[in-house]
Amino acid sequence: MRVGILGSGLMGGKLGTIFARAGHEVVFSYARSKDKLKKLARDARGNASAATPSEAADYADALLLAVHWSRIEDVLNQTGDLSGKAVVTCSLPMNDDNSELVVAHTSSGAEELAMRLPNARVVSAFNTIPSEVLFGVYEARRTSTRPSLVYCGDDKASKAVAAELIRDVGFDPLDAGPLRIARYTEPFALLVAELAYELEGGPELAYTFERFTK
Ligand SMILES: NC(=O)c1ccc[n+]([C@@H]2O[C@H](COP(=O)([O-])OP(=O)(O)OC[C@H]3O[C@@H](n4cnc5c(N)ncnc54)[C@H](OP(=O)(O)O)[C@@H]3O)[C@@H](O)[C@H]2O)c1
Repeated sequence: MRVGILGSGLMGGKLGTIFARAGHEVVFSYARSKDKLKKLARDARGNASAATPSEAADYADALLLAVHWSRIEDVLNQTGDLSGKAVVTCSLPMNDDNSELVVAHTSSGAEELAMRLPNARVVSAFNTIPSEVLFGVYEARRTSTRPSLVYCGDDKASKAVAAELIRDVGFDPLDAGPLRIARYTEPFALLVAELAYELEGGPELAYTFERFTK
């Protein structure tokens, strides 16, 4: 898959690196320094390059949106039209000091994004896990018990894209249903972050759900 990274910080930098190592073609974009993007591309040791958000959007089959909520408008203004693109968002709708959600209960960051991008195919994923666990999960991907990672969305094809990326990182993808479920997964992401940073075990924490199947 060709994956464009919009926001190459803790989440975008690490996930983009893992996607490249898992065999995808990755374009890093949107950081304050072009040298940082180039270094990420070099260090990814796979098929990776650095570009502008608009080049990344043109090139990619799927885009990972990994910017602070306050930067969403800015980055979307730079990507241009995203019609038909699978947009996998890990961005949580947080206020400036990251102390609370600014969208919750009756909507979610993912649903607001889908309204902002009516012709794109938005999936919410990768936001219920601290970035610190990502490389460890990738390294342990061949073990039999993988941690779960929930995702949700309304478009079947882009959900398949998200599930593939989640699996490639080393998680067991857990389809949580339609995009409106992000109203519950986004606050859950805050719970996971609290547990990861406040409790013993720290950011190594990754969660597992029991399957409820017939
Ligand atoms: N970190 C986590 O563990 C975690 C977990 C779950 C969800 N999330 C969500 O994921 C999203 C990204 O989080 P993050 O921790 O990866 O954030 P981050 O490390 O701050 O990365 C954000 C990216 O945006 C870039 N950026 C910020 N302002 C910019 C500007 N004016 N011009 C160009 N680029 C700019 C940053 O550039 P620089 O690289 O130059 O700083 C960085 O590459 C957030 O919405 C967060 O809620 C994060």
